Amino acid sequence: MRRVTLTQFLIEQQRAGRTTPELRLLIEVVARAVKAISVNVSKGALAGVLGEAGTDNVQGEAQKKLDVIANEILLQANEWGGHLAAMASEEVEEVHQIPFDYPKGGYLLLFDPLDGSSNIDVNISVGTIFSVLRNPARKDGGDPTEQDFLQPGRDQVAAGYALYGPSTLLILTVGNGVHGFTLDREMGSFVYTHPFMTVPPETQEFAINASNARFWEPPVQRYVTELQAGKTGPRGKDFNMRWVASMVADVHRILTRGGIFMYPLDEKCRDKGGKLRLMYEANPMAMIVEQAGGAATTGRERIMDVQPSKLHQRVPVVLGSAAEVERVTKYHLEG
Ligand code: AHG
Ligand code: MN
Ligand code: MN
Repeated sequence: MRRVTLTQFLIEQQRAGRTTPELRLLIEVVARAVKAISVNVSKGALAGVLGEAGTDNVQGEAQKKLDVIANEILLQANEWGGHLAAMASEEVEEVHQIPFDYPKGGYLLLFDPLDGSSNIDVNISVGTIFSVLRNPARKDGGDPTEQDFLQPGRDQVAAGYALYGPSTLLILTVGNGVHGFTLDREMGSFVYTHPFMTVPPETQEFAINASNARFWEPPVQRYVTELQAGKTGPRGKDFNMRWVASMVADVHRILTRGGIFMYPLDEKCRDKGGKLRLMYEANPMAMIVEQAGGAATTGRERIMDVQPSKLHQRVPVVLGSAAEVERVTKYHLEG
């Protein structure tokens, strides 16, 4: 069987007019950084990368050593290639400018360097999430500002995630379906293993942190209660529940065998607008899920139509199999 690598795949996409050489380079560089993060994640205690970094990030969350390492790897890998105008990261408060001695390109890269970092120390899957936007042409030719990043998710030109699980996967969309690659650790290359991934429309699984049940809004209470009622309830079938607490792992399961993922608005996170971050968690995952035939809303509107007002903005997230997401959204709009 002919093995297609990520490089080959991207060159073919470029020939078909679906990516630019600059976007191809950007994705290749992100993939290279993902390999380096994968090495660090898999060495664990042997490389002394577990545990707390002893610092807090912009959101006031304690950083793990691997949050800091993954962030540094992504920033450094993407600074010198000439494909980016600037970057933004969960772990960095302000826009990260490209050092002045490197050329600048036409794209903005946003990322959650390590998603699910509470799982690192217990050796459960973590990931990286990224989103690519065009840099709006600046008349004054100055450095990109936060304002330049505040584009709705529908304007993303590419999105993806890496999952550091039993194998390391890179899942990618450039607006032409969702494509998955498995890292061949011996060869050091990503091999095209999952063409045109789709979210199965029928589902019997849901993912939500049920410990927050008492804080949920009535529409979410109603929806989950109906699922829990199983065969004897209004849905007439039994549902199973999974919650990894790594969004990447939960979304990947949904991309593989269907389901719905929810981190809704609740009384605990209401003041912040939600738990998950719009620009580098919700938007890229929404693009992937929609490209795979699923749906993604805040419970009230399509995630990719939300007009961002700040870089580290949070939003409620409901995504997965289209019919289920529609039902949850309908319950919100009725209530
Ligand atoms: P991060 O590690 O990047 O801060 O993201 C963690 C997120 C997401 O991956 C996951 O779905 C959610 O937080 C888990 O939250 P709970 O611990 O509240 O379940
Ligand atoms: Mn995250
Ligand atoms: Mn993170």
